[in-house]
Amino acid sequence: MSQDDEKIEKEMSGHSYDGITECDNPMPDWWVWSFLLTIVFGFIYFAHYESGAGPTLKEELNLALKAIEAQKQAHAPKLMETEETLAESMKDPSVAAAGAVAYAGKCAVCHGQELQGQIGPNLVDNFWIHGRATRTDIVKSIREGIVEKGMPAWGAVVSQDELYALAAFIISKKGTNPANAKAPQGEAVD
Ligand code: HEC
Repeated sequence: MSQDDEKIEKEMSGHSYDGITECDNPMPDWWVWSFLLTIVFGFIYFAHYESGAGPTLKEELNLALKAIEAQKQAHAPKLMETEETLAESMKDPSVAAAGAVAYAGKCAVCHGQELQGQIGPNLVDNFWIHGRATRTDIVKSIREGIVEKGMPAWGAVVSQDELYALAAFIISKKGTNPANAKAPQGEAVD
């Protein structure tokens, strides 16, 4: 008997059928473990999605649709934004109050703590470079910035609520005449 034959003899399972004898070739350990893991995974998967917190396919679809809807809302053109809708959004005093906080953190470095102007223009005098200081003009300046002149565009940085709040705060401070005000820039508006 050759060495190979001996080896095969040892591995015989002792099971023979129609003269064909099977070898006993156990699956490799990694295979057995992967197999057991798939069973464990199966149980966890089933428990999570069938009786646990996992969403059903329908719920997953609804979540995805909601996310799409939210994206759409966020990018919807601001067609409905008029002086009146802006006035409505800004009329609650808490809006301007929220704007004060945002202003201190984001704008005061350039426009001054009291909006008196510094690197950027005075925002409480009667002189405006861009537009005539309507709510629409101010919202536009903040949203789109005047990038080439050093005024960043904030539309992509702050939420729409925060944007309105900032504008409301600026408007609420109109005519406060702070100390060390920067010289007027732009056109006089009334
Ligand atoms: C890096 C400095 C800088 C920061 C920060 C900054 N601005 Fe400005 N801003 C400017 C400059 C400079 C201008 C003037 C642009 C020009 O000359 O056309 C300006 C212009 C404006 C105008 C238009 C003024 C006009 O006379 O028409 C508004 C409104 C305004 N900024 C609001 C804000 C608000 C609100 C913030 C905070 C969210 C802010 N800015 C942050 C530099 C800045």
